[in-house]
Amino acid sequence: MSSTGKIVVGMTGASGAIYATRFLKQAALKFKTVYVMVSDQALQVVQTELGIPITRGTLTSHALLGQDFGNIVFLDQRDYFSPPASGSFRHDGMVIVPCSMGTAGRIAHGTSDDLLTRSADVCLKERRKLIVVVREMPWSTIHLRNLTTLSEAGATVLPACPAWYTRPSTLEELADTVVARILQQLDVDQDLMPQWQYTEPE
Ligand SMILES: Cc1cc2nc3c(=O)[nH]c(=O)nc-3n(C[C@H](O)[C@H](O)[C@H](O)COP(=O)(O)O)c2cc1C
Repeated sequence: MSSTGKIVVGMTGASGAIYATRFLKQAALKFKTVYVMVSDQALQVVQTELGIPITRGTLTSHALLGQDFGNIVFLDQRDYFSPPASGSFRHDGMVIVPCSMGTAGRIAHGTSDDLLTRSADVCLKERRKLIVVVREMPWSTIHLRNLTTLSEAGATVLPACPAWYTRPSTLEELADTVVARILQQLDVDQDLMPQWQYTEPE
């Protein structure tokens, strides 16, 4: 399928709001349009972790990312008339970052009870890319079974496990080790993290 330049992003209430903000900035640079859905609990976690006093009423790219991005479109979680709710709307994939175990479980069981879970359900039925950047520790058997179900249905389970081998020196650099892998999964060129190269010992 040729690229549409459109990407769908969900933010939920798992820890790791920084992954979402770092990813959204990259997505806004790499895609023509970025459709974003934010759960109520994600807003709470953004407040707690990033200290941004954001509410549904004040949710803009400037408020969330400190910068205006005209190509970021926030969608209403209850509006099933929004484009990603329909399989006829073509896009390059959906990323849920961070993805709570609650949302992962709801998608695994096809509940489609808000726009975010409906959009993910559409990705699975249309065999489109769905990347769930899950975060929890430890994982229960229920979590593991739900993630297996998602993987079997075609989703990519990309846990928020930052890498240390690039010796990140800031939290942003550490978070970008995860963001780089998301972009890689979307087949998007990225320069946040170099590809691993093996150098022959002298
Ligand atoms: C500060 C904070 C951190 C949380 N971290 C996680 C987490 O890492 N993983 C997770 O599955 N749930 C986490 N939760 C719980 C979820 O927010 C909760 O299950 C919520 O119902 C998820 O709703 P949502 O998936 O609609 O966003 C956290 C909650 C808070 C307040």
